Amino acid sequence: MAASLHQRPAQSLLSNPSPHSPRFSLSKRPSSLLTRTNLLLLFSLLIILGFLYPYLGISQSLFSNTHFKFQSKWRNYSLEEAVSFVGQNGTVIVCIVSEPYLDFLNNWLISVTRQKHQDKVLVIAEDYNTLYRVNERWPGHAVLIPPVLESHSAHKFGSLGFFNFTARRPRHLLNILELGYSVMYNDVDMVWLKDPFTYLDGNHDVYFMDDVAAVKPLNHSHALPPPGKKGRPYVCSCMIFLRPTSGAKLAMTKWIEELQEQPWTRARKANDQPAFNWALMKIEKQVDMYLLPQSAFPTGGLYFKNKTWVRETKGSHVIIHNNYILGFEKKIKRFRDYGLWLVDDYASESPLGKL
Ligand SMILES: *[C@@H]1O[C@H](CO)[C@@H](O)[C@H](O)[C@H]1NC(C)=O
Ligand SMILES: *[C@@H]1O[C@H](CO)[C@@H](O)[C@H](O)[C@H]1NC(C)=O
Ligand SMILES: *[C@@H]1O[C@H](CO)[C@@H](O)[C@H](O)[C@H]1NC(C)=O
Ligand SMILES: *[C@@H]1O[C@H](CO)[C@@H](O)[C@H](O)[C@H]1NC(C)=O
Ligand SMILES: *[C@@H]1O[C@H](CO)[C@@H](O)[C@H](O)[C@H]1NC(C)=O
Repeated sequence: MAASLHQRPAQSLLSNPSPHSPRFSLSKRPSSLLTRTNLLLLFSLLIILGFLYPYLGISQSLFSNTHFKFQSKWRNYSLEEAVSFVGQNGTVIVCIVSEPYLDFLNNWLISVTRQKHQDKVLVIAEDYNTLYRVNERWPGHAVLIPPVLESHSAHKFGSLGFFNFTARRPRHLLNILELGYSVMYNDVDMVWLKDPFTYLDGNHDVYFMDDVAAVKPLNHSHALPPPGKKGRPYVCSCMIFLRPTSGAKLAMTKWIEELQEQPWTRARKANDQPAFNWALMKIEKQVDMYLLPQSAFPTGGLYFKNKTWVRETKGSHVIIHNNYILGFEKKIKRFRDYGLWLVDDYASESPLGKL
C-alpha cells in the first residue's frame, strides 16, 4: 500500500523508443547533399582532421585516463569510507536511488538542505551512473554496494548475491549500525518541511511513522500500532531512524530474515514493507520502538486526501511522503500541485545543482 516509488522497477522508463520515433527518419534526407561544393568541403575537413589527428588522439587518451581513474576511484569507495566521510555527530542520512529517480533525489535534497542536514547525506546508488553523477557534482556523497541492480537475470532466485539483493535495504542499514552510526533512512519521494531530528524524542532504538490514513487523536500512543486486517501493522518502511543499539540491529536482522523466508516475487520484494511489519511485531517486546506523531509525519494517504485534517494540523507537518499514488508522472504532478516539486525553481539550492 505504500507503493514506495523508487522501488518500482525502472523498465517502463527505460524501454526503447518506438521505431517510428522521429529521430529515426533523419537518415532519409535526399542525397542532393553530395554536390560539388559539399564534396570539396568534406575533402578539406578530412585533411584538417588528418593533420590534427595525433593531437586529438593524445587529448582523448588523457581524457579517458582521468575518466577511468574517476570511475575506478568511486567503484572502490566502500561503505565504511563513505560513512566516515559524510557521518556527522555519529549520524548519517541515507537514501537508495537509481538513475530514473535523480530528480526526486534532488527534490528531497533541496528540502534537506533547507534544514541544514545535507552534509550527512549518503546516497546509496543502485547503478553506476547514479554513483558517478552524484560524486561528480558532490564528491564522496554516493556509494555503490554490490551486487548492482543491472539486468533482470542478475537477481534470479539462487543467483550470486540473491539474498543480499532481496534484503538490501535492511542490510545496508544494519551495516551502517555495525559501523557505530545512527542512521536515518528516507525514500526520496519525500519532502522535509521542518527538521525531523528534533522529533526523535528519548533514546529509543527504532523510530518510524504509520502508513495508515485514518485520523488519530493528537495524543496517540507512540507504541507499535496494533495489527490491521492483514494481521500486521502498517508501519511505513519509507522513513526509519535507528540508533546503533542491539535492539535496532535485531530489528534489521529480523527484517532480513522475514524477507528471505518468503518466496521470491518481484512485486513482493519491491515492497519490503510487509516484512518490516512482521519483523517489528515479532520483536516488539525486545526492542524499544517509537511511533512518530501522525500530525508531523502523515502518510500521503492522509496529507494529500484530507484537506480538513491538513487545515486542522497546519504548521505541524515535518515530512510529507508522496505515496498512495502510482506512477512517476502522477507523483511529480501531485508534488507540483502542492508546491512541493522544488527542482523546477530551486535546483540551485541542492548540493547537486541542476541535473
Ligand atoms: C581500485 O581497486 C582495484 C582493485 O582492487 C585497484 O587495482 C585500483 O588501483 C583501485 N583504484 C583506485 C583509483 O584506487
Ligand atoms: C549531536 O548529537 C547529540 C546526541 O544525539 C544531540 O543532542 C546534538 O544536538 C547533536 N548535535 C548536532 C550539532 O547535531
Ligand atoms: C552479502 O552481504 C554481506 C554483508 O554485507 C557481505 O559480507 C557479502 O559479501 C555479500 N555477499 C554477496 C554475494 O554479495
Ligand atoms: C488522549 O486524550 C483524551 C482526551 O483528552 C484521553 O481521554 C485519552 O486517554 C488520551 N489518550 C492517550 C493515549 O493519552
Ligand atoms: C478528515 O479529517 C477530519 C479532521 O481531522 C476528520 O474528522 C475526518 O474523519 C477525516 N476524513 C476521513 C475520510 O478520514
